[in-house]
Amino acid sequence: MFLAIALALAAAPQDLPAPHHMPGEESVDPYTPSPANAGATPFSGDGMARAFHGQDGIRRIVDRFVASNFADPRIGEIFANQDKVRLKRTLFEQFCYILNAGCSYTGRDMKSAHKDMGVQQADMNRLVENLQAAMRAEDVGFAAQNRFLAKLAPMRRDVVGR
Ligand code: HEM
Repeated sequence: MFLAIALALAAAPQDLPAPHHMPGEESVDPYTPSPANAGATPFSGDGMARAFHGQDGIRRIVDRFVASNFADPRIGEIFANQDKVRLKRTLFEQFCYILNAGCSYTGRDMKSAHKDMGVQQADMNRLVENLQAAMRAEDVGFAAQNRFLAKLAPMRRDVVGR
């Protein structure tokens, strides 16, 4: 009896998915989750979350954005063979966290996530165009789009290699 309880207790934590290995995702090297990994501080108030139509709107934007990056004739190659399921989850968390729409970011920091990927400034510009198209499709106002892009812009130095 005691042994059964001890075994159950010992096994329990392994039943919870660690942030670096969620169901349906490939595992990644262990890392320490931190809000700082998101690369930007969240907006305050609910204005931005509303402009993006809440978590449902953010989900639609991220799904469209990720699909367009994978299908893109110019930058699609960089995404080929990467874990689309994980990318959709972590990008959703990051956008939702920064937009103050009620999420925590559990992904890697921007430097580790894009290490040795060889991303150039032109690739970054193209990705931003795909994000703009996804925000436009969701009818996010132009001012709100630009406020969000301004939060992402400084991440360039951690994403673009030299
Ligand atoms: C400000 C701009 C960007 C942001 C906010 C961003 C955000 C993210 C996030 C949150 C992840 C997932 C981190 C994790 O798995 O823990 C990620 C991974 C990735 N990003 Fe970006 N990214 C940006 C720019 C780019 C650009 C310009 C490219 C290429 C054109 C790119 C390609 C990728 C790829 C291929 C992965 C998957 C890496 C892997 O699974 O190992 N990203 N990005």
